[in-house]
Amino acid sequence: MTEKSLRVLIIGSGGREHALLKACKASPLVAAVAVAPGNGGMEQEAICYPLNVTDVHAIVALAKRLDANFVIVGPEAPLSVGAVDALVAEGIPVYGPNKAGALLEASKTFTKDFLMRHAIPTAWGKKFTSSEEAVEFLAAQKFPIVIKASGLAAGKGVIIAEDYDAACSAVYDMLDEKCFGNAGAEILIEEFMEGEEASIMLMVSEDKYVMLPASQDHKRVGDGDTGPNTGGMGAYAPAPVVTPEIEKAVVETIVEPTLKGLLADGIRYRGTLYVGIMITAEGPKVVEFNARFGDPECQVLLPLLKTDPVQLMYDCATGTLDPSKVEFRDGFNIIVVLAAQGYPSTPRKGDIISFPSKLPAGTAILHSGTEREDSGDIVTAGGRVLGVVAHGATLATAAQNAYALIEKIRFEGMHFRRDIGARQLKRDGV
Ligand SMILES: Nc1ncnc2c1ncn2[C@@H]1O[C@H](COP(=O)(O)OP(=O)(O)O)[C@@H](O)[C@H]1O
Ligand SMILES: [Mg+2]
Repeated sequence: MTEKSLRVLIIGSGGREHALLKACKASPLVAAVAVAPGNGGMEQEAICYPLNVTDVHAIVALAKRLDANFVIVGPEAPLSVGAVDALVAEGIPVYGPNKAGALLEASKTFTKDFLMRHAIPTAWGKKFTSSEEAVEFLAAQKFPIVIKASGLAAGKGVIIAEDYDAACSAVYDMLDEKCFGNAGAEILIEEFMEGEEASIMLMVSEDKYVMLPASQDHKRVGDGDTGPNTGGMGAYAPAPVVTPEIEKAVVETIVEPTLKGLLADGIRYRGTLYVGIMITAEGPKVVEFNARFGDPECQVLLPLLKTDPVQLMYDCATGTLDPSKVEFRDGFNIIVVLAAQGYPSTPRKGDIISFPSKLPAGTAILHSGTEREDSGDIVTAGGRVLGVVAHGATLATAAQNAYALIEKIRFEGMHFRRDIGARQLKRDGV
């Protein structure tokens, strides 16, 4: 591939897509980059086109109108409705799995069957569509136990039930009350795994892959992992909790059998495979797969690549990936998410954000939920508003750099966690 040969279209509107946009802007391969639908921050750096990301026809039409020769799909929703299949049918290379591959995220029962069939370590699980049968099964189980809506439920479809009664009400809510709509029409009852969680993202091209450094995110809204779940309040990478021994076990018992299993099942996977693991006393086990980069994990991982991430994504899309050539930077990256008043329940919109005039080296402010007003002001427009990313030789300096920058950002009702990376910092003795 030659310099300035790619006309890229990025699909999505969050912090992850802003990080992808920055990678495209820094890549010598990219001649032009557009985003759809984008957000207020991305509008300052690229042309953003309105788009309903689950409208496959609209995605294809836009890619053709822009004469895009590479599309990067950020979120899961367009993947799960077959956006990639439709673009590929038009001859456009795409980074992101096809509809069959995206089932690894879109159906937890499909994934449990896949994992068990290929003997990949995970919690045992059993699927149900009848609440009567599920409740009968629960009567003979130990607690806590995990109840999961099978489909896409925006990170809200998993209940850890401490006892029989809580488990039964989760079952009734999902199967009978349809609290997650169709996403909960089938549920999974699954063994509770004890351990520490980490995420490992792979850039996959069928049988070949690049494994990115392990990361840890922080799902609860409050310090010390308290309060309700969110889309993610911060992350850091590399995560030393994934030791070289654990990483080796992940490769041998999870990654390689998964990629072999996909091919054996006729699924040609090209894109990010996000492996959520629980580090248990028996070794790492799969919690879930996602079919795209995590948000906010993507924002700390891409800047750790010394190799051009756009080159890697394009090579995955076109089947030309050479994992032996990939290089990483030293040090740690951290991201702290700045959330709007009321997030995660009812985030307030329209608060004006003030930014520092200059960014220190090794830092970035990525936009998630922002809009640009006609006046030029950037205002809050979503729950997770901004992501503050910083690099450091150690995790402690990365954290210091991020929190120092946050001091210079302001909007009404802004809240964030002050303990991103704290578990690891404690282990490091900081
Ligand atoms: N079997 C399990 N044992 C213990 N905790 C679990 C288990 N499954 C899920 N969890 C917890 O619930 C969270 C959400 O579950 P996950 O399967 O990742 O669904 P999603 O991200 O789609 O909501 C996980 O990050 C983990 O903290
Ligand atoms: Mg998850």
